[in-house]
Amino acid sequence: EKGGYDHFMLKEIFEQPQTIYDCLRGRLDADKGMITMSGIEKYAEQIMNANRIMIVACGTSWHAGLVAEYIFEELCRIPVEVEYASEFRYRNPVVHQGDVIIAISQSGETADTLVAIENAKENGAIILGVVNAVGSSISRLSHAGAYTHAGPEIGVASTKAFTAQLAVLTMIALKIAHKKGTISIEKYSILCKELAEVPDKVAEVLKLDDSIRLLAEKYKDAYDFLYLGRGYNFPIALEGALKLKEISYIHAEGYPAAEMKHGPIALVDEHLPVVFVATKDAYHEKVVSNMQEIKARKGKVIAVITEGDTVTPSIADDVIILPPAHEIIAPMLSVIPLQLLAYHIGVAKGYDVDKPRNLAKSVTVE
Ligand code: M6R
Repeated sequence: EKGGYDHFMLKEIFEQPQTIYDCLRGRLDADKGMITMSGIEKYAEQIMNANRIMIVACGTSWHAGLVAEYIFEELCRIPVEVEYASEFRYRNPVVHQGDVIIAISQSGETADTLVAIENAKENGAIILGVVNAVGSSISRLSHAGAYTHAGPEIGVASTKAFTAQLAVLTMIALKIAHKKGTISIEKYSILCKELAEVPDKVAEVLKLDDSIRLLAEKYKDAYDFLYLGRGYNFPIALEGALKLKEISYIHAEGYPAAEMKHGPIALVDEHLPVVFVATKDAYHEKVVSNMQEIKARKGKVIAVITEGDTVTPSIADDVIILPPAHEIIAPMLSVIPLQLLAYHIGVAKGYDVDKPRNLAKSVTVE
C-alpha cells in the first residue's frame, strides 16, 4: 500500500507530479487560456466585487492561505486577511452579509475551521471550501468551492495536499483576475502555461532526493533551524519549519528574511543551519544580502535557489537548485526540497515519520 516506498510521507511527496496534474486536469486549458471551475463560477461576481476576502485554516493549510494572500492581492487587487481558524472563531470577528470566506482544509474535518465557517455562515458570509476529502464536513457546509483532488493523504505531515491547495488557489485567483480585468492577457496566459508545467517541474525537483538525503545526514544533529524567505516564499519558510518540527522534533522557526535584524539574528552562531528559500524573484538580491548577514555571523547557509543563480560557496554552504518558474508558481517547487529535508532528517533520527508523536492526522477537537 506504500507503493514500494518506506513511508507514506515519502510516497505522498513523490506523488506530487501526479496529484498536481490531477488537480489541474479538466480545469486548466493552458492553450486556450481557460480555467473551468463551476463552484467558483457560481460566485464569481461576489468574489470579484468583494471588499476583502478572508481565508481561515490551520497549520499547513493556513500556510497555503498565506501564499494565496500574496497571489490574490497581486492578481485580483482584493485585500485578503488570513486567519488562524482557532483565533477567528473565538474573537467575535467582524463578518458582514456577502463577505467571502475561503476555508482551506485537507481533511475537511478540522474542528476549529468547521466552527469558524459555521459562525460566519450564520452571519451571511459566502463560504468557499478548498478541501481535499470529498463529502467531508467542511465541504458540505461550504456554499461552493473546489476540491483539491490529491487523493487520500495518510502521512500525518501534510505534503501533497499542500501543493494541490496552492494549485487550486492559484487557479481561482487567475480566474477572478481574468474576469475582473486586473491581469493583462499576456500575464494571464504566461501564468496558465507555467501552471500547466508544474507537474513536470516538480518531477525534476524530486530528482534532488539523494542529495537532500546527504544534506539531512550533515545537519540532523542541529538543535535549531531557521527558515527564511521573502514574498511568496515567506509562507514556504514557515511551512518548511513546521515540517521539520513535526517530523524530526528539531526546533525550527520560519521568519521573513528581512525581520532577522529585528531580533532573531542574535541566535546565529556556527551551530545554526539557516535555510533560505531564495528562488529567483523580485526579492532575490535582497535575500542574498540577508544570506551574507548570516554568513558573517558564521551561520550555516542552505540556499534553495534557481538554476542560473550565482550564489557562490562563499555565501552558501549548501545549495539546492530548482528549475526556473514565475515567482507566483515557485512556492509549489520550493516547498518540495523542504518536505524531503524534514523527511530524511526524521528518518535519520529514527523517528516514525508517518505518525509523529503527539499528533493526529485530523484535529477534530478544539
Ligand atoms: O485537515 P486540515 O488541512 O484542516 O488540517 C490542518 C492542520 O491540522 C494540518 O495542516 C497540520 O498542520 C499538518 N499536520 C501539517 O503537516
